Amino acid sequence: MKDTREDKAARRRLLLDRYGHAVPRYTSYPPATRFIAAQDAGQTYARRLAAASGDVSLYFHIPFCMRLCYYCGCHTRVVNDYGPVTDYLALLEKEVAMVRERLSPDCRVSHIHFGGGSPTMLTPDDFSRFMENIRAGFNVMPDAEIGIEADPRNITPPHVAAYAGAGVTRLSLGVQSFDDAVLEAVNRPQPFALTEKAVALCRAEGIGSINFDLMYGLPLQTAEKVLETMKRAVSLSPDRIAYFGYAHVPWMKKHMALLPEGSLPDAAARLRQQEAGGEFLVAAGYIPVGIDHFVRPGDTMRLALQTRRLHRNFQGYTTDGAPTLIGFGASAIGENAAGYCQNASDTKTYFDRISAGEFATLRLLDLAPEDHPRRRVIEALMCYLEADTAAACAESGLPPESLDAELESLQPMAQDGILTLEGRRVIVDPEYRMLVRIVCEAFDQYAQKGEGAAPRHAQAV
Ligand SMILES: C[S@@+](CC[C@H](N)C(=O)[O-])C[C@H]1O[C@@H](n2cnc3c(N)ncnc32)[C@H](O)[C@@H]1O
Ligand code: SF4
Repeated sequence: MKDTREDKAARRRLLLDRYGHAVPRYTSYPPATRFIAAQDAGQTYARRLAAASGDVSLYFHIPFCMRLCYYCGCHTRVVNDYGPVTDYLALLEKEVAMVRERLSPDCRVSHIHFGGGSPTMLTPDDFSRFMENIRAGFNVMPDAEIGIEADPRNITPPHVAAYAGAGVTRLSLGVQSFDDAVLEAVNRPQPFALTEKAVALCRAEGIGSINFDLMYGLPLQTAEKVLETMKRAVSLSPDRIAYFGYAHVPWMKKHMALLPEGSLPDAAARLRQQEAGGEFLVAAGYIPVGIDHFVRPGDTMRLALQTRRLHRNFQGYTTDGAPTLIGFGASAIGENAAGYCQNASDTKTYFDRISAGEFATLRLLDLAPEDHPRRRVIEALMCYLEADTAAACAESGLPPESLDAELESLQPMAQDGILTLEGRRVIVDPEYRMLVRIVCEAFDQYAQKGEGAAPRHAQAV
């Protein structure tokens, strides 16, 4: 007899109980918690920039918001006047000039992303000027994707006009929930009409792609409330929806303690919310991508999924395939084939370094030879739910059996039906996509596994 929907849900709950624990988000491998502070990080970064070739991608971090959402895990701070933003922009411009001096003029910019915080805190004039400067200083490709993480509460018609004028192709709107009580509980009042207006403005200005960030696991959320939110979200036809599980890490972000523990849904409720939201979106015609994205069938991310050109970086899933990512601003992370580098997260250190004409890079990670196949396998699992360890080892010049012990450690999960092992291929059943980070952990040689490991990450679901 075939399993009913309820049987399958019960099995997922059981397996989440069996395997669920705190795991990294695997937006990079090794995870950012492994980056190492280095005295000469700035010089190493300058050398890496000078060696870059081909396509590059630019990331600008804007660490300011108008009001603190209590669930926020981003690197940001609340400002009540524009002075700090102006000062920060001047430093960002200076950092841009420093990078430009070292980067080969042959490098072509294929992606630009503004993240935060809330890049929508910049005035329309400042944003336009900043983008003009970027276009003047870098070889930005005519079809470059330019995305902004936007707080709909900041957006006015002149903002959206400035984005359209600067060639922005995607606005990613922070929504989280359309339930007023949930939004109230997290200190983020945002009426539906406000988001609806922001969407209409983007469409009127011809911004081709709209993403919504939605969340589950927030205080007072239930599966029923999630369904209401999804209905309203779909009524606005976003091209993509990122549906994140609230990562509750009050030991890292003290303000999260403002959310009373008792108001947070437990693991079983979180799973129900995740499933209810995902099933609704699939029934509404969205295609699931990785662990937390849903896209319309014609979206470029769907194409990237089909053609195996999807990637995962610090912004989550992306179609950005540039081999070099250059991060600007406090806490920004850069990436290339050699490894990762991160700017000072503390805004004062960032200010002091850049003002003195020095790079603000403080932490680095040089990939070790054995990191390469693990990085490939983890990215493939996160993107496609499957990976070929022999192929990943061959690409890194290692013998095919190099990850056999890791494959062997997946036997219990194979016996439980979470995944299939075909030779050296791991194929995760999409039914259990929510457990894929636990599968990835088997290939993470730095993971602190087992009892007593420090809780440095959020729960798997
Ligand atoms: C930089 S914000 C988006 C832009 C803008 N600041 C806003 O909130 O509207 C990035 C997104 O990260 C997600 N996020 C923030 N904190 C989170 C957490 N603790 N767990 C999971 N997702 C989180 C939210 O969905 C949020 O929209
Ligand atoms: S979720 Fe967005 S608006 Fe809210 S505090 Fe975080 S970065 Fe700022």
